[in-house]
Amino acid sequence: MKRIFSGVQPTGTVTIGNYIGAFRQFVELQHEYDCIFCIVDQHAITVQQDPQELRENIRSLAALYLAVGLDPKKVTLFIQSEVPAHAQAAWIMQCISSIGELERMTQFKDKSTGKEAVSASLLTYPPLMAADILLYQTDIVPVGDDQKQHIELTRDLAERFNKRYKNVVKLPEIQLPKHGARIKSLQDPTKKMSKSDENQKATIRLLDTPKQIEKKIKSAVTDSEGFVAYDPENKPGVSNLLAIEASLRGVSIDEVVKKYEGSQYGAFKQGVADVVISHLAPIQQRYEELIVSEELDLLLDQGAEKANAIASQTLSQMEDAMGLGRKRAK
Ligand code: TYM
Repeated sequence: MKRIFSGVQPTGTVTIGNYIGAFRQFVELQHEYDCIFCIVDQHAITVQQDPQELRENIRSLAALYLAVGLDPKKVTLFIQSEVPAHAQAAWIMQCISSIGELERMTQFKDKSTGKEAVSASLLTYPPLMAADILLYQTDIVPVGDDQKQHIELTRDLAERFNKRYKNVVKLPEIQLPKHGARIKSLQDPTKKMSKSDENQKATIRLLDTPKQIEKKIKSAVTDSEGFVAYDPENKPGVSNLLAIEASLRGVSIDEVVKKYEGSQYGAFKQGVADVVISHLAPIQQRYEELIVSEELDLLLDQGAEKANAIASQTLSQMEDAMGLGRKRAK
């Protein structure tokens, strides 16, 4: 069985962008692959987090992973900081990365430009992500479009490691969703929708109430043309709402455009809001049950144990190949 690995940061409640770009793919893939999913809390601390909030966000994300429809019997779910091999392998990945290639990452540029104090870990974030993926001998990494450059770097680092030392790690392939690989901000549809956006009106979060969702979609930035058509370049706001509805309903963009032929923006937005609200309702209901259950902790314990077994094996192969420590009895 081929292996899937992916991760999500526990920084604020996940958005419908995360859901469409990542979670939806996870749910579909769980039936055909050996799936390992991670709550990447060590990635989250590359920017300062409130400790109590981080703890809550970790638990909430674990519940959401399951609430969207992942079957705990099928997938492995664990917390990154509970598997020490991630930080250890990240060090190895940093040692084979160059500063130049890390500085070229667009996410690093976006997050560091104009900032006075930039943590070193913001620069070394991609080698940690490479470690996450390579430790599990991953075949496929389902992510949204914004992670493409990081996956390309992961492949480069994997190739470099294998060439320089010994063939230890597998080169992973990226998998993007058919549509919705980059859901845009509702307030600035030229930017991606982001969990960390300070403008609350820009994002739809998975745990938003129906009222909040309706309000946010109704105030989404569109244009003054007044007709519904798919044209991401000239009508980015309208096109973004069309992409959201199409991916949630699992239909083509054309089909959604047809549904709103002749509609005013008010009716169009109401229609999209109704689809989002009814799609999220069962997820929110499952979430409320899971967040108070003890099952969640049990599952995360089992997940960490399983992840530890796989990751520590790859880590010791890497260390052996590099000559770190003493030779181990096989
Ligand atoms: P994160 O937590 O920012 O996002 C989680 C997943 O959601 C996708 N995504 C989107 N997809 C479509 N439209 C959007 N607006 C949108 N915003 C986010 C992301 O592409 C991602 O798939 N570095 C990663 C976490 C990570 C990881 C890994 C992922 C750490 N290690 C190993 C895969 C494999 C991140 O910050 O994702």
